[in-house]
Amino acid sequence: MRLPSISLPDLPVPGLSRLPFAPSSHPSPEDTNRRVLVTGGASGLGLALATAFLERGDRVIVTDLAPTDERPSTVPSDARYLRLDVRSEDEWKAARAEVEQIWGGLDVLVNNAGIAQGGRIELLTEQDWQLIVDINLLGVARGCRTFVPMLKGQGRGHIVNTASLAGLVHPPTMTSYTAVKAAVVAISESLRWELEPFGVDVSVLCPSFFRTNLASSLNVSDPAASGFASKLIERSERGAQDIAAEVMTALDAKQFLVLPDPEARRSYRGKRFLPAVYARTMTGMGQKFARATGGVVGRE
Ligand SMILES: NC(=O)c1ccc[n+]([C@@H]2O[C@H](COP(=O)([O-])OP(=O)(O)OC[C@H]3O[C@@H](n4cnc5c(N)ncnc54)[C@H](O)[C@@H]3O)[C@@H](O)[C@H]2O)c1
Repeated sequence: MRLPSISLPDLPVPGLSRLPFAPSSHPSPEDTNRRVLVTGGASGLGLALATAFLERGDRVIVTDLAPTDERPSTVPSDARYLRLDVRSEDEWKAARAEVEQIWGGLDVLVNNAGIAQGGRIELLTEQDWQLIVDINLLGVARGCRTFVPMLKGQGRGHIVNTASLAGLVHPPTMTSYTAVKAAVVAISESLRWELEPFGVDVSVLCPSFFRTNLASSLNVSDPAASGFASKLIERSERGAQDIAAEVMTALDAKQFLVLPDPEARRSYRGKRFLPAVYARTMTGMGQKFARATGGVVGRE
C-alpha cells in the first residue's frame, strides 16, 4: 500500500508541474556562501540538505539532539555542530546568540527536525499528541519566532520548513502527523505573505515517503498503524539525497510549495483535480486497514 495509491498519469497542470527552469542552471553568486542553520541535521533529510548546502559553498550550522560536545559522527566535518532541541526556547535563544556571534546574521533557516507518528485516533494518547505538537509544530513556530526579527532586520533571508505530503493529503490512521504537517503548511503560507514585504522568502517542503531513520521515532500506541507507516518509510524507492537534490533546485527558484518527488506531485494533483478518484483511494486504504486490524464494523 502506498500513500495514497492513486494511479494517475503525471498530469501536465500549469503551475504544478516540475520547476520551470533549466535544471543545469548554476547558483547565482548571492546564492552561495550563505549562512545556513538546519535543525534535525544529523540524520536523513536534514543531513542531506546540510551536505548539499556545503557542496554549494555555503556555511552551515547543523543542529540536533546530541550535546554540542558529543558531535554526531554523521555531521560533515566542514559544518559547525550545535545542540538544539527544537522544544527548548532557551536552546533556540542560544542558537540565535551563536549565529549572531559567529556570522552576524543568517541567510537560510531550515526548520526540519521532526518525528513520525501513526495510530488510530482512539489509540493515540494525549502524550503522543503533545509530543508531536511540541516537536513538529511548535518546533517550527519557535524557529520562525526566533529568527524572523533577524531576517526582517536584514531585509533578506529564506525560511525553509519541512512539512510533508501528509500536510496536503490526509490518509487514515495518521491523524496526529497529518494535523501537525498541515499546520506547518499553514504557518508557511501565512508567513510567506507576512514576510514578503520584508524581502524574506518562505518555502515549505512536502515530500512523500523516503528512506531515513524516521521510522525509529514512531510511537508504540498503535503497533499496527506504526508498522504500516514504518513500511512506507523503509520500503520507499527514494532516499534523502534524492529529495534534497530536488529541494535545492526548488529553493534556487524560490519556489514556495515544494513537491520534490513524482509521487507527491501525483497525489497532490489527484486530490485537487480528481477528487472522486482521491476519495476512492482513501476509502480503499481505510477499508484495507480496518480489515487487517479486526474487521470493518461500519459501511463496507
Ligand atoms: N522520511 C520520510 O518519509 C518523510 C516524509 C515527509 C516528511 N518528512 C519529514 O522530514 C523531516 C526529517 O525527517 P527524516 O525523515 O530525515 O528523519 P530522521 O529521523 O532521519 O531525521 C530527523 C532528525 O530530527 C532530529 N530530532 C528529532 N526530535 C528532535 C528535537 N526535539 N529537536 C531537534 N532535533 C530533533 C532527530 O534526532 C533526527 O536527526 C521530518 O520533519 C519529517 O517529518 C519525512
